Amino acid sequence: MKKIALIFFASGIIAYALQEFPILGGPQTWSLSQINLLKSLSLSTLPELPLDPSNQVAEDDNAAEFGHALFFDVRLSGNNNVACATCHQPEKMFTDGLTLAIGSTIGTRHTPSLVGVAHSPWLYWDGRKDSQWAQALSPLEASHEHNTNRFDVARLISNDEYYAEKYTSIFGSLPKILKKTNGTAPLENTESKIAWKNLNKNQQIQVTTVFVNVGKALAAYQRKLLPGRSRIDDYIDQLAQTGTPTEEYLSSEEIAGLALFIGKAQCITCHNGPLLTNHEFHNTGVLTISGQLPSMGRYDGIRLARVDPFNCLGGFSDADDEECVELSFARDTNDLVGAQKTPTLRNIKETAPYMHGGQLKNLLEVMDHYNRAPVSLLSHNESKPLDLRPFQLRQLEALMSSFSAPLATEEKWLNPP
Ligand code: HEC
Ligand code: HEC
Repeated sequence: MKKIALIFFASGIIAYALQEFPILGGPQTWSLSQINLLKSLSLSTLPELPLDPSNQVAEDDNAAEFGHALFFDVRLSGNNNVACATCHQPEKMFTDGLTLAIGSTIGTRHTPSLVGVAHSPWLYWDGRKDSQWAQALSPLEASHEHNTNRFDVARLISNDEYYAEKYTSIFGSLPKILKKTNGTAPLENTESKIAWKNLNKNQQIQVTTVFVNVGKALAAYQRKLLPGRSRIDDYIDQLAQTGTPTEEYLSSEEIAGLALFIGKAQCITCHNGPLLTNHEFHNTGVLTISGQLPSMGRYDGIRLARVDPFNCLGGFSDADDEECVELSFARDTNDLVGAQKTPTLRNIKETAPYMHGGQLKNLLEVMDHYNRAPVSLLSHNESKPLDLRPFQLRQLEALMSSFSAPLATEEKWLNPP
């Protein structure tokens, strides 16, 4: 009897140990094909920033300086209290640490990081914007974010000496119509609504053009926000050069996490390339945001992008129609129901909470989510349960720290001007 109890006890301990601790093995070795796969994740393979033909000032440093000032300016809001940097805080890798963003009131989505965002062909979790400048216009007029309007934005540019000078040096003269009224007025204030209605079509286009150019300057600024080389890049580059791994840059736990990332856990299916995103949209069965209907995700996003007056094909874009390849050939199939944009994992450690509604508090919860692969309320979850042990989830979690590094962005762009 005692013997049987002892066997039960011992096998219990062994089972527990297997669950909790990695089976002792030698150091990780990599096959040639694995090394090639790893190479594709290194920042050394990051291509030049893609050009944005829809924004003729995208590469202009003067425009970036203008955008830099705008990004931190709370006067671009109805209550003089909200700037882009309120939610996209440089010290938090351009996120805010909140579950759902708070501007003039609470919003419906979690604030994503802006690191490397200029590499992304689509903006927002559902990709409803096809350029950074078009995206930048939305929060300004959204009642829960900046809660201002294009007339007041244009008027601020015209009335502020520094802005007026910057603007004219980049885009040419400001419309005279803006000189007529002084100061800004919040959206709810009927003054600005009446002012808008009193403009004729041509004047409305003039005002909208100033507004659009504000977006283009903000986009030029955000092109400066680029990820810096982290420990994972040093590990991979060293491995690629010598063919032998070292533990100089990654701990053995992180290396084990990396093997899972490109192997059994299949993270690399979507989080690939040097920014650790395929820039595509996927349904990963993330829980619906509490109090909201399930998000239609990219299925709606692509439809919204197509009818957006500020898209690549629209009248305010600087691109020729044939340059709008992404928009013209984007997929809009049913499998995009509930699909969100794959976020970059660069600096992921610093940007909790996670997912489009900030539904998951920390990285271990994220790993647990992928391990379970819950059924999606809408459509289907593309990822399958992983059957990983708790210690393996911790290895994946550990790996995430190795994606962190200071940005490859000059200090001056990271502080208010
Ligand atoms: C109130 C908080 C808040 C403010 C203010 C705000 N944002 Fe955002 N930003 C968000 C949230 C939340 C999202 C995601 C919304 C969504 O996907 O529906 C987002 C998304 C973005 C994205 C898309 C990122 C990606 O990977 O797709 C960019 C770029 C961006 N914001 C830039 C700006 C700029 C520029 C400003 C100022 C004009 C600004 N934001 C103001 C909260 C904010
Ligand atoms: C089928 C594609 C796919 C696979 C496979 C996948 N991811 Fe994701 N990942 C996404 C998408 C899409 C999101 C955003 C989902 C959302 O917000 O609803 C995301 C979000 C995340 C986030 C949160 C990012 C943020 O800024 O909020 C982390 C961390 C993450 N994934 C890590 C992993 C890891 C680790 C694995 C492997 C275990 C993995 N992912 C596998 C597509 C994928």
